[in-house]
Amino acid sequence: MLETEFNPYLSAKLFAPVEKEIAVDVLEVIEGEVPKDLWGSYVRNGPNPKYAPTGRYHWFDGDAMLHAVHIENGKVSYRNRYIQTNAFQREAAHGGPIWVGRMEDMSRNPGDEPLKDTANTDVVFHNNNLLAMWYMSGKPYRVNPRTLETVGPEDFAGMLKNKISAHSKVDENTGEFLFFDYGIVHPYMIYGVASADGKLAHCVPIELPGPRLPHDMAITQNYSILMDLPLFNDPVAIQKGRYKVNFYRDLPSRFGIIPRFGASESIRWFEAEPCYIYHVCNAWEEGDEIVMIACRVAEPCPPSAGGGGPIERMLAFLKLNAQLHCYRFNMKTGSVKEGQLDDMNTEFPTINLGYMGRPSRYTYNVHIASTDTLRFDGLVKFDTQSGRYDKQMFGPGRYGSEAAFAPRLHSKTEDDGYLVTYVHDEREDKSELLIIDAQNFTDGPIARVRIPQRIPMGFHATWVHGDRMR
Ligand SMILES: [Fe+2]
Repeated sequence: MLETEFNPYLSAKLFAPVEKEIAVDVLEVIEGEVPKDLWGSYVRNGPNPKYAPTGRYHWFDGDAMLHAVHIENGKVSYRNRYIQTNAFQREAAHGGPIWVGRMEDMSRNPGDEPLKDTANTDVVFHNNNLLAMWYMSGKPYRVNPRTLETVGPEDFAGMLKNKISAHSKVDENTGEFLFFDYGIVHPYMIYGVASADGKLAHCVPIELPGPRLPHDMAITQNYSILMDLPLFNDPVAIQKGRYKVNFYRDLPSRFGIIPRFGASESIRWFEAEPCYIYHVCNAWEEGDEIVMIACRVAEPCPPSAGGGGPIERMLAFLKLNAQLHCYRFNMKTGSVKEGQLDDMNTEFPTINLGYMGRPSRYTYNVHIASTDTLRFDGLVKFDTQSGRYDKQMFGPGRYGSEAAFAPRLHSKTEDDGYLVTYVHDEREDKSELLIIDAQNFTDGPIARVRIPQRIPMGFHATWVHGDRMR
C-alpha cells in the first residue's frame, strides 16, 4: 500500500485481516441461553488477505476466509479457515503475493490467471458440501461444512466448462443449483442448472448487448431471472484492458426471465427504470405475474466516484444506498410494475431459504450505517405483505455481518426460527455471535456467544441445517 494513503478496508480493526486459523469446541455464552431447537451451522465468507498487498488494496481483493459456528444441543463451536483456492496455493508456494489487486495495473498479474480468483464472496450449501463463489465469476470451490477443509474446485462431474458467479442459487425444495456466469466475451452470459447430486443438467448461452456486471440472479419454482443492468464497464476502456464502471442512465434495466430448463431463445426480457441491484431478497410466481423483491440502488455511481484517487473512489462505491423495491413482471402482457416499498437504507438481505423461489413474506436486511466505510449497524425484519418492519440496532460501535435465518427444529411457519449474525464491538475489540428470535425480533438477542477471535467485516453467509451435514 502507498504509505501516504490510509486504507480503512485494510487497516481499521473492523476490516483488518486475522492471521490465525483456529478451532474452539465450546464457546462461552455471555448472555442468555442458546436454544436447544437450533441445530446447524452459520457460515460466513469474506476477504482476508494472507499477504500484505504490493499495491493499493481493494476490499474485494482479499483471500477467502470462512468463519463458521456450529450450534447443537445448546452448545456452540467455532472455526475459521482460508479457502485453498488455486491462487492461494500458488502464493503460499511462492511465499508471498503474486497478484496485484483490482486498483493496480493488472497486466502485472500472471497471464494464465489475469484476475486473482479468490472465491471470497458468497457461500451456499449444495450436494453435502459448502460451495464458495466469487463475484467476478470464477471457479466455485467445495468446502467441507464441518472441518472447513477445501475439497477443491467444483466442475459438476467434469461437465462444467464455464465459470460461475457468486449469488448463483440453491433451490432447497429440489436441491438443484441454478447458476449464471458472465464475462467480457460474447455472448457475455451463461445460465445453467446442476442437479441435487452435482451433475450438470442444463447450460445455455444468454446473449447480452455487451459485457455487463450482474451481481445477482433470482429464481422461482419454474423460472430464473437474469439481469442486464445499466451499470457496466466502459466498452472502449475494456478494449484497452482497463476497467472503468459507468452508470448509463439512459438505458433501461433489463430482466430476462427463462424457464428453469429453458433454451436460450425462450428467455423473455422485461424493461424497467435504470438502476443497479446488488442483491435480490426473493422472487416467486403469483398468477400471471412474477414478483421480485430486491434492494434497489437508484444512483449506483456516487458523485465523488469521478474524482480523487483510487482509495477515494473505492470508499465512494462501497457506500451503499439501497431501498427495498418490488417488481411485478406480467408473463401474459409483458408489462412491468415497479415501486419502492420502504425508504430505509438496507442491504445484504437474507430469507428463510426454504422459501426461496416460493411466495414469502419476510426479508431480513442489514441496516447500513452512515459511516465512511460500509458498516452494518442493525437488522431490519421487513414484512413485504403489510409494509410493516421491525428494527434491531446493535448499539454504539457494534457492527454486524450478513445474517442467516435458521429455522427452529420442526418449524411450522416462515418466520419460526432465529436470526444469527456475528457482531464486532470496536470499542472492546471483541466479536460475538448474536441469536435473535425472528418472531420476537425487537426483544434483543436471546443469546450472545463470545467468539474467541475478532471476525472482520465480510460478505455473504448461509445457514446449513444440522440434519443435512451428516
Ligand atoms: Fe453480493
